[in-house]
Amino acid sequence: MPNTYGNNSPLSYNKYLRVKDLIGLQECLSDPAHHDELLFITIHQAYELWFKQILHELDAAIGLMNEDRLAAAARTLRRVVEIEKLLITQIHILETMTPINFLGFRDQLNPASGFQSMQFREIEFASGQKHQSLLNEFRDDEFAYGRLQKRFAAPSLADAFFSVLRKRGFAAPASEASLDQEELTRRFGKRTRAILEVLTHFEERYEEFQLAEVLLEHDEYFSLWRSHHIKMVERMVGTKRGTGGSEGVGYLRTTLEKKFFPELWEARTYLDTKHGEGGCPFAKE
Ligand code: HEM
Repeated sequence: MPNTYGNNSPLSYNKYLRVKDLIGLQECLSDPAHHDELLFITIHQAYELWFKQILHELDAAIGLMNEDRLAAAARTLRRVVEIEKLLITQIHILETMTPINFLGFRDQLNPASGFQSMQFREIEFASGQKHQSLLNEFRDDEFAYGRLQKRFAAPSLADAFFSVLRKRGFAAPASEASLDQEELTRRFGKRTRAILEVLTHFEERYEEFQLAEVLLEHDEYFSLWRSHHIKMVERMVGTKRGTGGSEGVGYLRTTLEKKFFPELWEARTYLDTKHGEGGCPFAKE
């Protein structure tokens, strides 16, 4: 019977992985081809493959949280974090290219930019970092816009996390839109309070704790990627404007404060040793 790889011959490594197609996808624009342009394309394509894998795992983690399978969700997210560690080190391979060599083909890239990476935005949206203006940037790209709109409307990792905490008895509202007077006085909302309870009772709440920690790591390593990317960009092109038209490094620095799970970070500020000894003061509601 013919296999899905197009003929009757036995499966091989090259057929299964479509190696012929894969190594034909790196088309240099410089003419004659600049030696370093292949590296530039390969690195970006490798990123896009890993982004695809990350999205696959984020979708799985959301599904597992919806089924109340927190240990399995945490294990899935552990893989995401390990991929993100690799994505950080991968940035530095680009630094083996000298700035003058990069300038040798940079102009050909105009007006394309990593800013237009659909899957990068999908990861942001799926994690809970959604901005209408960023979605609008993709209006002229039907394929990307369709995918991003779906992600924008779908519950994110953050939504799934707080939803499962609610199912497990925590008072963690779907949104913090209306803080009551007491919360305003304390300056943090019920979601942060739920995290404080998890952090305080991490042994009894070990599944929730494990999940909260790996979510924080996902946030941390994504943000660390941003820092490493900025430093590499500055090393390559200083403060020149980006090929995508932004201010370049100046714009990128404004993204450093982005957080997928601000409450997970905020809870650290309010955590106090007395919570552990006498039980969490916020536990009873
Ligand atoms: C020499 C290499 C690179 C340079 C000089 C560079 C430069 C820049 C600049 C200046 C921006 C700001 C937007 C613009 O105006 O273009 C940007 C954004 C971005 N770049 Fe790079 N980049 C490089 C490599 C990469 C690589 C390897 C990736 C991996 C996917 C990447 C992903 C991104 C993403 C996702 C953004 C948008 C960030 C955000 O809006 O939060 N870049 N890049």
